[in-house]
Amino acid sequence: MDNSQDRIIIFDTTLRDGEQSPGATLNVEEKLEIAHSLSRLGVDVIEAGFAFASPGDFEAVQKIAKQVGTQDGPVICSLARAIKADIKAAAEALAPAAKGRIHTFISTSDIHLEYQLKKSRSEVLDIAQEMVAYAKSFMEDVEFSPMDAVRTDSQYLYQVLEAAIAAGATTINIPDTVGYTTPTEFGELIKGICENVPNIDQAVVSVHGHNDLGLAVANFLEAVKNGARQLECTINGIGERAGNAALEELVMALHVRRQYFNPFLGRPTESTAPLTNIDTKQIYKTSRLVSNRTGVMVQPNKAIVGANAFAHESGIHQDGVLKNKLTYEIMDAESIGLSDNKQIVLGKHSGRNAFRTRLKELGFELSETDLNKAFVRFKEVADKKKEISDWDIEAIVSDEIRQP
Ligand code: KIV
Ligand code: ZN
Repeated sequence: MDNSQDRIIIFDTTLRDGEQSPGATLNVEEKLEIAHSLSRLGVDVIEAGFAFASPGDFEAVQKIAKQVGTQDGPVICSLARAIKADIKAAAEALAPAAKGRIHTFISTSDIHLEYQLKKSRSEVLDIAQEMVAYAKSFMEDVEFSPMDAVRTDSQYLYQVLEAAIAAGATTINIPDTVGYTTPTEFGELIKGICENVPNIDQAVVSVHGHNDLGLAVANFLEAVKNGARQLECTINGIGERAGNAALEELVMALHVRRQYFNPFLGRPTESTAPLTNIDTKQIYKTSRLVSNRTGVMVQPNKAIVGANAFAHESGIHQDGVLKNKLTYEIMDAESIGLSDNKQIVLGKHSGRNAFRTRLKELGFELSETDLNKAFVRFKEVADKKKEISDWDIEAIVSDEIRQP
């Protein structure tokens, strides 16, 4: 159906797969806060959780469905195993959303079938078809994932996908569950699916991938070139083990190199129209919020959102950038929501204005009273440290303002 669409759907799974990062548990209020931020960022789909997994997850999906899943807002999705009770719980939690999606999955690789599911290929094929049809009895928008697709026999994979689409799946998601594939191989897999699944034009082809070999983003970009039109990703790339494909890296790669990608989406090369619906200026704020609430730090050299991503240390680079930024910068810090103020080092001589501007960039809009309190604390900390980092500022806000 929509594989001819010329925008890439951004499906954010920070609140589901991202929360599976060791130690990254979020409470319901934190999930809601992040969901609102993802909506401002412009993601098309928010996977809000796994409704059946726990009462807390159910409540979070339901609240997000109600408060963020408005008519103009994103699609709200819940994960569900290919089991009736899971699917029913997902449907109930999603009921308040203007646009809901059930995402159901079952493993299809022989290794998972033999050791985990203890089922035959034909049993799994039947379950996939029946459970997609069951999900479809609750809502129109149903996504199906054959888990460990990358290690699944390709002829069998085509059969399962065809059956899922025939049962009503509108999105077919291809997971690299163990982060095993490589860009060329993944591109070929997506191409093979587009060419060999007879009813593939009735579904959007999506990709999902983990970063065990550090290749998730590269794999996805190759998938886009071969027909994938939905990308499942997380803020800061958080997620199970080495994480998921990072939203900010995918979006900025598609943004900075849009003229390279245009022809693969059937657009004229010279078109400057965006390839996603993301408001890139919201990226930095959202990244900081997710890091802050999950407690998962962003490494300094992390692409796009790391503390050093726009910093120039060597004299030659600094000289070039001062003459013309394009000498050593392929994108503007402002495009992800950082102003040139980021180059201003905050310390004991900094004024309230610089402090307020940095707070805004980090996503904090404080009242005058709270700003005053935080500023006093900032000066105290600045007296003890040469330089105040974003982490120091976030700590100041959470110590001074957010404490009950
Ligand atoms: O990695 C994976 O296979 C998943 C599925 C549930 C889509 O997260
Ligand atoms: Zn995953």
